[in-house]
Amino acid sequence: MSVRALVACFALALAAAPAGTAPGLAQGTQDAAPPRGDTIANAADTTGAASADTTGGAGAAQPEESCVSCHRSLDSERFSAPAKAFHNDIHASKGFGCVACHGGDDKDSGFGAMDPAKGFIGIPSRRDIPELCGRCHSDAQFMKRFNPSLRVDQVAEYRTSVHGRRLAAGDTLVATCADCHHIHSIRPPSDPKSNVYPVHVSQTCGRCHADADYMKPYGIPTDQLQKYEKSVHWATLSQKGDLSAPTCNDCHGSHGATPPGVSSVVNVCGQCHAVQAGRFEASFHSEIFSMIGAPGCVTCHGNHEIHAPTDAFLGVGDSAVCGRCHTADSKGAQVATGERSLIDSLADRMQVADSILGRAADAGMEVSQAQANLGNARNALIQARAAIHSFSVDSVRAKIDPGLEVADQSATRGRDALQELQVRRLGLAVSAALILLVIVMLVLKIHRAGRPTRPGEGKQRGNGGEGSHGR
Ligand code: HEC
Ligand code: HEC
Ligand code: HEC
Ligand code: HEC
Ligand code: HEC
Ligand code: HEC
Ligand code: HEC
Ligand code: HEC
Ligand code: HEC
Repeated sequence: MSVRALVACFALALAAAPAGTAPGLAQGTQDAAPPRGDTIANAADTTGAASADTTGGAGAAQPEESCVSCHRSLDSERFSAPAKAFHNDIHASKGFGCVACHGGDDKDSGFGAMDPAKGFIGIPSRRDIPELCGRCHSDAQFMKRFNPSLRVDQVAEYRTSVHGRRLAAGDTLVATCADCHHIHSIRPPSDPKSNVYPVHVSQTCGRCHADADYMKPYGIPTDQLQKYEKSVHWATLSQKGDLSAPTCNDCHGSHGATPPGVSSVVNVCGQCHAVQAGRFEASFHSEIFSMIGAPGCVTCHGNHEIHAPTDAFLGVGDSAVCGRCHTADSKGAQVATGERSLIDSLADRMQVADSILGRAADAGMEVSQAQANLGNARNALIQARAAIHSFSVDSVRAKIDPGLEVADQSATRGRDALQELQVRRLGLAVSAALILLVIVMLVLKIHRAGRPTRPGEGKQRGNGGEGSHGR
């Protein structure tokens, strides 16, 4: 029922099985390091035994392992840190203890806990770590009981990577499971505190790959992290929090040599940028590039420091990419400038339309529909920028022309609105003038009406006025 109970079942199954028949476990350990076959059975057994005593799962009632209580109080940071960190570890939360990896007897409160006769293995050597983790993580049946959707191919994949192949050949500087996942505070990749949470991956890899001294024996560049942190991908991931942007393992794979389904790292871009990749692959450049040994997207965009290109990237000028291979009078250059002028023309006409509509809207004219329509022109521009990956003027024109039509219609609507405004203003001026005229005439009329029509009356009033003034 509880996780601990499952562990117990697993341990019992192991204990019951004749040595060497437990699936995955015994096999892996027999191949790699025969003595560890026992260790594992014991380790699992002890975990199981502990849990058998403490039904109720990973609650506070669980008696602490002797390993943890002694280690936490040790003076040496090196020996106490694992015990202090472990409560954050996913394995601890699933009911596993130190013995799951190190073996030993977690009920012996003295040094006997670390008796090799009780399966204690001490510090696993770096070379043995993949098999140590793989004992459980490569065992589909065991892992299914905890999390059926969790993959169980990490060790198999790891063996195909540069890290795995070099480790197998005895090079212990490469990354093992424990380097990328931490050792005593392993968390699922979805946990924002995990070393392998997308935003943290580049630092995790960079700890070795950006350390020139550490990487010295290999003579490979150590600028990947520095460059990546200037890229549009890192900006999208770290500033916008958009986890769909790639970090190191999205392009290189977490465990395998490349991400699953990709034959080579340089083909990885198409996983996310399918439109551009489709067009590029259907273009003549695709074949030509492989003939001249230029890797697809990466030749033009780079790999680690990829920037968001502007239209200036298209053409043969200084900041343009086509001019790197095509001279100004070549067919390639003609196509580049042809595509560029189409894109520029749409961008310009959209700007014109936008500013006319803006003026009309500011003056209170109703042009919201036209402004919304301009969005279609914007889409056309985006599609045209993707269409340049066919490297043909016609492909780009097919996207630009409908956009131009929309932009021009919008501009016309804006001009009409401004004209209407002019007419309205004229009408307003005329009516204002008329009203003014009427007022003037009224005033005149009143004035005239107030004038003395009969001399007697006028005088009387005038006198009365003077009289009162004099009072
Ligand atoms: C009574 C205290 C105590 C208990 C209980 C204890 N340890 Fe230790 N452990 C130590 C000390 C002290 C050292 C450092 C030994 C040394 O300097 O060689 C150590 C070292 C280790 C090491 C490093 C070994 C090495 O080769 O350097 C590991 C791993 C370890 N313990 C795991 C465990 C596990 C797992 C358990 C429980 C099954 C456990 N310990 C139980 C005190 C203890
Ligand atoms: C998931 C497996 C796993 C579990 C569980 C685990 N450890 Fe470890 N431990 C390792 C590995 C792997 C190493 C060696 C890492 C390396 O080579 O850098 C290690 C190293 C150590 C070391 C040596 C540290 C050093 O710097 O030399 C100590 C001490 C230790 N563990 C104690 C413990 C204690 C105590 C527990 C329980 C609280 C525990 N471990 C639980 C896998 C585990
Ligand atoms: C005793 C068996 C066992 C061993 C040994 C073991 N693990 Fe695990 N591990 C598990 C179980 C069970 C889970 C929980 C799976 C779940 O419920 O998601 C787990 C979870 C994980 C997770 C989180 C997976 C997720 O997405 O939830 C990572 C990462 C991980 N382990 C890495 C390691 C590494 C690295 C090692 C070796 C240093 C190791 N494990 C050793 C059994 C083990
Ligand atoms: C070079 C770094 C690196 C190494 C080495 C590495 N991992 Fe991972 N691991 C990752 C990253 C990054 C993720 C998260 C992305 C993913 O799931 O692919 C991950 C995810 C996982 C998961 C969770 C998978 C899931 O579907 O949630 C497990 C379990 C795991 N690793 C186990 C291992 C084991 C076992 C080893 C050793 C054979 C190992 N890892 C070696 C980087 C590494
Ligand atoms: C513990 C240090 C360490 C960590 C952490 C680490 N690596 Fe490595 N990596 C190495 C070493 C050492 C090599 C071997 C270099 C070689 O053979 O050229 C290597 C090789 C590679 C290679 C092959 C390079 C080549 O020569 O073509 C790639 C790609 C790679 N690592 C990617 C990653 C990624 C991605 C991560 C993080 C998910 C990572 N590494 C984490 C140490 C590390
Ligand atoms: C957008 C995809 C992408 C991302 C993100 C990425 N890389 Fe790369 N990386 C590549 C490509 C493509 C190559 C060239 C591979 C080839 O030529 O086979 C490469 C090459 C490498 C190499 C071989 C040495 C070199 O520089 O040519 C290493 C090591 C490496 N990357 C590590 C990393 C690390 C560490 C990160 C994260 C900080 C990272 N990469 C992020 C695509 C990527
Ligand atoms: C895991 C998915 C993923 C992978 C793999 C990937 N990208 Fe991206 N890329 C994105 C995301 C997300 C953005 C940012 C959103 C956007 O603007 O499209 C982006 C942005 C870009 C941009 C800027 C787009 C713009 O309009 O400003 C370029 C150029 C680019 N990527 C090229 C590449 C190349 C080249 C590769 C392969 C070396 C690659 N990407 C691999 C997801 C990915
Ligand atoms: C021959 C050089 C070249 C190659 C090869 C190339 N691109 Fe581009 N890419 C460009 C140019 C030039 C632009 C700028 C277009 C503009 O903004 O006017 C661009 C723009 C982009 C953009 C941003 C604009 C958009 O389309 O949304 C992305 C994303 C992109 N490229 C991805 C890729 C991918 C993925 C590949 C590989 C399948 C690739 N590119 C191959 C030259 C190239
Ligand atoms: C890495 C070098 C390289 C880059 C960058 C490059 N090209 Fe090419 N392109 C070639 C090669 C090589 C050929 C075949 C030889 C030739 O026709 O010049 C070619 C051929 C062409 C052709 C066919 C020429 C013909 O004679 O039929 C066109 C059109 C073309 N490129 C357009 C472009 C455009 C547009 C860009 C920029 C977006 C670009 N190229 C960027 C290398 C490149």
